[in-house]
Amino acid sequence: MKKTWGGRFKKPTDPQVEAFTESISFDHRLAAFDIEGSLAHVQTLVKAKLLKPQEGKKLVAGLQKVRRMLETGSLPLDSSLEDIHTAVEKALTKIVGPLGGKLHTGRSRNDQVATDLRLYLRHAVKEAVGAGTNLIAVLAQLALQEKETLMPGYTHLQRAMPITLGHHLSAYAFMFTRDMERFLTAWDMANALPLGSGALAGTNHSFDRKLTAKKLGLKSVLENSLDAVSDRDVYVDFLAAAAVTQMHLSRLSEDLILWASSEFGFIEMDDAFATGSSLMPQKKNPDVAELVRGKAGRVFANLFGLLTVLKGLPLAYNRDLQEDKHFVFDSADTVTASLKTMAGFLSSMKFQREKMGRAADRDLTLLATDLADVLVKEGVPFRLGHEIVGRVVHYCLEKGKRLQDLTDAELNKFSDLFPKGTSQQLSVVHSVNAKQTVGGTSPRNVEKQVKTLTMELGKIRKKASQL
Ligand code: ARG
Repeated sequence: MKKTWGGRFKKPTDPQVEAFTESISFDHRLAAFDIEGSLAHVQTLVKAKLLKPQEGKKLVAGLQKVRRMLETGSLPLDSSLEDIHTAVEKALTKIVGPLGGKLHTGRSRNDQVATDLRLYLRHAVKEAVGAGTNLIAVLAQLALQEKETLMPGYTHLQRAMPITLGHHLSAYAFMFTRDMERFLTAWDMANALPLGSGALAGTNHSFDRKLTAKKLGLKSVLENSLDAVSDRDVYVDFLAAAAVTQMHLSRLSEDLILWASSEFGFIEMDDAFATGSSLMPQKKNPDVAELVRGKAGRVFANLFGLLTVLKGLPLAYNRDLQEDKHFVFDSADTVTASLKTMAGFLSSMKFQREKMGRAADRDLTLLATDLADVLVKEGVPFRLGHEIVGRVVHYCLEKGKRLQDLTDAELNKFSDLFPKGTSQQLSVVHSVNAKQTVGGTSPRNVEKQVKTLTMELGKIRKKASQL
């Protein structure tokens, strides 16, 4: 295929170089956005009187035909076409003849790729936020349903205090809510037009770039052409949002993997969301959650990959930038698929409420902090209460007795400040119900949290629908 830049060259490109430099095998995903950008550019050229209105109409009709070819899978995308920008222009020229050659006036592929990627980003953010808000809705609904389900809460993966399962689930819902804000903020940063940068220095023609931006639904025009074609910071923002989201997904996965083990036995995975072993007939494995956790490695690597590509580049465009798309596409695909799959995993699995409750209730010393607080209420400094209860805990472990089963006489051996009937006041239910301060694990608070989440979800969905 004749190169668009072939005039200066006396030899055809080495086939190895052609294969090495092409990007069409992956940037074909930008095709629809490239066509959208070209349609806007036609309008800019007509307004600048570089195209007659009649010519503009012909080009628009031609581009629409290219779009139909794309939709029906008949747009040629072979690697000799280099990249998607060339492929679209070549297909257009085949339809409209030499007039197609006018489309590239005042425009470079550098401007195009920067524009296309931003338009793609809008799409990717919408997809991620769509999947993310759905996951948040699933978590919020489960949190409400499980607001009274008791379980041990952990620090250092050691039993620490009783909590409600609803509180645990709602914690993740809040994390993902912030992640969705991160995606929306990333788009907010990217919501500006590079087109009209004329490769690097600007254009000799009088382009109404504001009109181009408006046509593409972009909020503003990038004011510096060197910046516009050479930076990819807004993709770094997107990749960072994806990395944080995948990190949260990975932590949730880790909890679920532990909970699915016989040691915990807190959940039963749905058959449709679990996998088996080729050798051990009894196995039911949490591969879905493991893969979500594992994919965090890739999504983090994508963020660092792009940062590394960018760090040494002189202004303005360098071909290194072509690598950006691998990172962006991969993170966008991975995070959206992970959010979707996790929503399915959670909605289909079953909580083993009794086992969770028993793990909290049968624990000998889970209520130790509550017992120390009994002394605090009697005026004992917390440090001293801690010390006394530490000794009580030791006693319980030795005797194999629960704190809540100790008699007044037993407790008073450690301190006569324990009021009568102390142990009767100690229970897992009482412990979670007492956590009424904002942020606490009580069922009432979980209900309030779900209200907040529902409100936030509404706001995020509204913002995403307006992108
Ligand atoms: N395929 C290129 C990329 O993805 C498009 C821009 C090419 N520009 C250039 N001057 N060779 O970055």
